[in-house]
Amino acid sequence: MRYAIDKSAYCDAAIIEERRLPARSYFVAFPDRASAGAVTPERRRYDSPLVRCLSGEWDFRFYPRPAELPDVLDTDAVTWDRVAVPGCWQFQGYDHPFYVDERYQFPFDPPRVPREEPMGPVFSLIGEGGQGAHVAHPKDEYNFVGVYRRLFDLSEREATAGHVITFLGVASCLDLYLNGERVGYSEGSHNTAEFDLSPYQRAGQNELLAVVRRWCTGSYLECQDMFRNNGIFRDVLLREVTPCGIWDVKVRTWREERASRVRYRLRADVTLAGGGEVRATLRGHDLERASETSAGNGRATLAFDELDVLEWTAETPNLYGLYLETGTECVLLRVGFREARVDGRRFLVNGRPVKLHGVNHHDTSPTAGYTMTPAEIERDVRLCKEHNIDTIRTSHYPPDPLLLELCDELGVYVIDEADLETHGALVGKFPARQNRLTDDARWRPRYLDRAERLFERDKLHPCVIMWSLGNEAGGGCNADAMYELIRSRSDLPVHYEGAIHSLRRAYDVGSEMYATVERVRSVGEGSSTTRRLNDRPYLLCEYAHAMGVGPGGIEDYWEQIYSYDALMGGCVWEMVDHAVLHPDGSYTYGGDHGEWEHDGNFCVDGLFYPDRTPSTGARIVRHCYRPLRVRHVGGDWFRLFNATGFTPGDAFTLRFEWSDGGVAEVVPDVDPLRHATVLVQPTSHEASDEGAGLRRNRVRLVTVITTRRATGEEVAREQFALSGLEPLGETGLARVARFPEGCEVTGDGLVLPGSMRPAATPVLLSRAATDNDRYLDGRCPMERLYDCRREVVSTVSGEGSAEVVTRLVYPHHRFLCTTSYEAVRAGVLVTTRLHCERGRGDLPRFGVCYRLDDLWDDVEYLGRNGESYRDMCEQAQIERVRCHVADMTEPNIRPQESGNRMDCQYVTLSNGERSVQLTAVDRPFELAVKAYSDEGLRAMRHREDEVRTGTYVTIQAFQMGIGTGSCGPATRPEYRFSCKDDHTLRYLVSWEHM
Ligand code: GAL
Repeated sequence: MRYAIDKSAYCDAAIIEERRLPARSYFVAFPDRASAGAVTPERRRYDSPLVRCLSGEWDFRFYPRPAELPDVLDTDAVTWDRVAVPGCWQFQGYDHPFYVDERYQFPFDPPRVPREEPMGPVFSLIGEGGQGAHVAHPKDEYNFVGVYRRLFDLSEREATAGHVITFLGVASCLDLYLNGERVGYSEGSHNTAEFDLSPYQRAGQNELLAVVRRWCTGSYLECQDMFRNNGIFRDVLLREVTPCGIWDVKVRTWREERASRVRYRLRADVTLAGGGEVRATLRGHDLERASETSAGNGRATLAFDELDVLEWTAETPNLYGLYLETGTECVLLRVGFREARVDGRRFLVNGRPVKLHGVNHHDTSPTAGYTMTPAEIERDVRLCKEHNIDTIRTSHYPPDPLLLELCDELGVYVIDEADLETHGALVGKFPARQNRLTDDARWRPRYLDRAERLFERDKLHPCVIMWSLGNEAGGGCNADAMYELIRSRSDLPVHYEGAIHSLRRAYDVGSEMYATVERVRSVGEGSSTTRRLNDRPYLLCEYAHAMGVGPGGIEDYWEQIYSYDALMGGCVWEMVDHAVLHPDGSYTYGGDHGEWEHDGNFCVDGLFYPDRTPSTGARIVRHCYRPLRVRHVGGDWFRLFNATGFTPGDAFTLRFEWSDGGVAEVVPDVDPLRHATVLVQPTSHEASDEGAGLRRNRVRLVTVITTRRATGEEVAREQFALSGLEPLGETGLARVARFPEGCEVTGDGLVLPGSMRPAATPVLLSRAATDNDRYLDGRCPMERLYDCRREVVSTVSGEGSAEVVTRLVYPHHRFLCTTSYEAVRAGVLVTTRLHCERGRGDLPRFGVCYRLDDLWDDVEYLGRNGESYRDMCEQAQIERVRCHVADMTEPNIRPQESGNRMDCQYVTLSNGERSVQLTAVDRPFELAVKAYSDEGLRAMRHREDEVRTGTYVTIQAFQMGIGTGSCGPATRPEYRFSCKDDHTLRYLVSWEHM
């Protein structure tokens, strides 16, 4: 079949769509009530006899040179490949994955996008690795075209009915054809595009052709920080339009509270394809109400009032079924009764203040880009629930509608965001101007189009508690127009962080990203220098950048959030790492695919690894977002805080377990967002592992395990030290006359019989930089303390004692390091003192590293049972842990410092025959055990680089905290250590044959 291909709509600034149907609610129609009620949300769009999902294998032809796409395409003459729809062509062997954050992939020259010519030079004010303004000359970059073809049959009966085709996501735009004729055009990648196929369809075989381009005018509004993918990346649905078909539904509910009695009113406005009777039945939780009316002009309104219902919240996701039936169809809407509104400085759900424990969520898969299967979407929502996350901001576009259905069902609040970001407008031209497009009225229709399609598609979901106008597009008249449009149709508050960059500053709620704790506090107090933030609620729409190890310091934000009514909470950036998984199991990130510009591993910044394995970040967040918080106030007294909005304290059980075996269980009585103080004493005793000799536990601890009473599910574990570290018994430390056989003190340090010796760099003051140690301004404070020249100043040895003084010389610092070794009954007591002779600033760490060969693989330690640093340690509890060396570091996609263990009392390494133990003397130490040296680690870029070269044990007086400096405030002062202070590390080394 031959097609005259349209080659102008995609690059015509005056065209946003051609013959695209007006935006409407997403739902799935069924022939009758029984079939509508019988499916799960995951199956809904696939199981209706009225809807055919066209996803599957489609014919595909990729045109790397757009000029080669014929003006008249003869589909019979094309050699077709086959690809999966939905899919992204960069993940299917065409072009390659391309990751860039804030820049366009093409020259910034709005509204022009590259057409058939090779893409010319690209100017940018920023570049990789701190490179400033520059011009790049990319090669072989074109506005690639992918042509998709799908054949489908219609029976004689079907061909007499109308059909609407629904594309849930196509990047960047879609020219649609059927049976040789042009159907229409649409752009707006993450917005639904629907067309009426009726005029072009026929009985028998139909040929559908979709021409998809890499970029269109709309791409100027899609400069989000993500892999820039293309293709038909969400499901394609073919819906039969029945004579009394339901076209659109708007459901509104009103909450009426009188004398603490809550009643709701509900109104459903139904738009029909034809006329006829409409019946509405509202069912659920012992309620059944029905109403019927006939639709004049294809419109019907059905209303229920005085509804005594269970309200919907993320904590209580009570849903009702609203069945809308016509002569030919039934649509089941899952309705939730909830109200979200702003009251002065407070954000209220159902009249009560809530705190949003949020994350930012992208639709992302390591094997399919933007495409996620229903099971993967469900897994993400469930992961949120399992990690005490109650809010998702759909950064930075409307998600697959299934995500919203599942958030309704499972209980997650959603801040639903428009598909909009123009970050590259800031850096694509001199002078840098944030509002270049957002304040340019010529772009208004496109902005409004995106606002309208966001609202209209998602207006039925109780989980949506706020609309968001987009991300990082600056402020201006077009954002204002979006706001007006949405507020003219919806009662929900509107959020938009970008407003902060305009005179307007904020819409219904104030919002910022990566603000410091001090700034957040000032907003909470109402004393912010940005005055518009002082009279409304405030959201951290992004905070705690979860790139690499971290995020550190997140608890400090929550201390503020729980202290001030105006602070609504925040959404961690972001839920999942973006990276590409290859068949050999390796992962790649920006720059690994031949991108001519990229932002490296800035896309690897999630709480979960790409395969959704939780990283330490997920554990930190789960801990910080726990619904019930416990604090030890002294003696047997504990202070409880109920961090929920609606769940009474007695929904939980607290089990207290003291380290000596004492146990108590408490069902707390504390209302949402209230405190209570309780006295808790052990009521019974159980056997406990306190250890013996040098391995005994020397700190009195109490661990509190919080479980949900209804399900038994554990939601949090907290621990409190009730004493300091009990000193090592004097007997073990009694001096003896000489060092044991085979033990030797050298200028480098202590050498033990059986392979333990100082590592090549025995004293470590720096660390292999974490992503959070590399600040956005290009600085890395670690760098200054990497290159060390060690000079032995003096060595003195006596009877059973020795002292070695070395000088550590760095480019900007000089330290004197004095280590004394004393032979004692239990082994050798080592004391290392560090004194700064020159330099200033912070010390990333102070530790001593020993190397053993890689047969020493068994590790036992008593300390925090997982990765922990000074500003991110509460998620891990002090326990006796037995594991292997490989378990002591984290599988970061880009290797970096990881796996620190805080509050360690001892560590034992063994090779099956012998063991060596390092024991804290007067203060717990921090522990690192790695399969490679820190110098080696510095050079590693991918997981495969982590090749084992031995067993490296580092015990440290301290490591500085992690912070979120990769995109946000760096480590706070209270988690830093000045190099001006003298520091001491003291430990006992002992060993034995097993
Ligand atoms: C924000 C932006 C996000 C992401 C993040 C850094 O400024 O809104 O999309 O780029 O920074 O990872």
